[in-house]
Amino acid sequence: MTPDVIIIGAGASGLMCAMEAGKRGRKVLVLDHANKAGKKILMSGGGRCNFTNLSVGAENYLSHNPHFCKSALSRFTQWDFIALVQKHRIPYHERAHGQLFCDDSAKDILNMLLAECDAAGVTIRLNTRLDAVARRPEGGFQLKTSIGNLDCQSLVIASGGLSIPTMGASPFGYRIAEQFGIQVWPTRAGLVPFTLHPPDKEKLAPLSGIAVDSVVENPRQAFRENLLFTHRGLSGPAILQISSYWQPGEAVEIDLLPGTDLAGELQRAREERPNAALKTVLSGHLPKRLIAALLDDALAEKPLQHLSRQDLLDVAAALQQWRVKPNGTEGYRTAEVTLGGVDCAAVSSKTMESRDVPGLYFVGEVLDITGWLGGYNFQWAWSSGWCAGQYA
Ligand code: FDA
Repeated sequence: MTPDVIIIGAGASGLMCAMEAGKRGRKVLVLDHANKAGKKILMSGGGRCNFTNLSVGAENYLSHNPHFCKSALSRFTQWDFIALVQKHRIPYHERAHGQLFCDDSAKDILNMLLAECDAAGVTIRLNTRLDAVARRPEGGFQLKTSIGNLDCQSLVIASGGLSIPTMGASPFGYRIAEQFGIQVWPTRAGLVPFTLHPPDKEKLAPLSGIAVDSVVENPRQAFRENLLFTHRGLSGPAILQISSYWQPGEAVEIDLLPGTDLAGELQRAREERPNAALKTVLSGHLPKRLIAALLDDALAEKPLQHLSRQDLLDVAAALQQWRVKPNGTEGYRTAEVTLGGVDCAAVSSKTMESRDVPGLYFVGEVLDITGWLGGYNFQWAWSSGWCAGQYA
């Protein structure tokens, strides 16, 4: 068959686009170089796929054009995706911050998309390499692939970002955009753990495995979530979230006791238990190993009565305004997403079609839209894929 629509990438956005275009009666072929569809869906959310969030808005996304995502998110919403999940009787549950996860397995979401594609007559070809894309003089595109030359009217780039190269990630979408004269914003890893400079790494190494509630912030954004110390550096949801807003060389400020007036509590404790050692009082708030790593031993051993008001303020600042300057991030090897990408200004926010190249569409993470942790990236994949599926 000669397809009407070829979609590059059998991931979240590509499969959503495929099933929608197929439902419109379009002949749809999805090509992927990986040996399996939806690999990132399968590994997402610790195998349970955080497929959307109860509260989704433009403020949950980063982009050079912060308004671009609004149209698609309002045309195919989290409620539309939840309805699909319910139609397929997939059991799910809500976790903190409105995040929705499968009860059983991320496989349920992938199987749902594959079943919808199948019902809409979509063909999926895996293990297929793309060598070149060209515009046909009569309109549409010709693709040189490892299964031969293929023609189509509409070409949808759903090839994702650069994170986790071992899962099939490639810069293909960016190269296609550049080939057609479309700007690509510089890319970098997002939702990614921080690595530390050697002295900090050494100091914090004994804390590996400890997780604490925290507020992590920089001048542009703040997140209250868990922070996890690892043997490589800092991770956990709070760090992943702020990493998307972090610029190399910058420090982040960490409050390890959010919502607590630690200085006030220490002053009260000094009146009530003057002989208690500082570390004893603090151990009611934080793990002992953490106190030992962040405070000087001699200071931590002192009875509260030997500490001045200023000393207590300094202790509170050390634990509630702890400044850490990351060495870098773990990069695409472990990042959940890619920041930057295909310039939204070159694409219609309603159809996802290129403004200058008729028939060429971009959906999902390849675009310069990056969501927070919490199901927002999949929701963008569903919403943008759905929109393109109405027009491609
Ligand atoms: P996606 O990456 O899903 O698909 C792209 C497809 O294109 C892949 O199948 C790839 O093989 C194919 N491809 C690439 N280059 C190609 C080429 N040259 N030729 C042919 N095919 C090519 N988000 C969320 O909302 N909730 C979550 O729980 C998680 N969890 C999570 C965990 C981990 C470990 C990662 C890495 C990421 C997440 N994410 C997430 C992010 C989410 O997975 C991601 O944003 C979406 O999968 C993006 O969907 P796309 O369709 O754009 O790309």
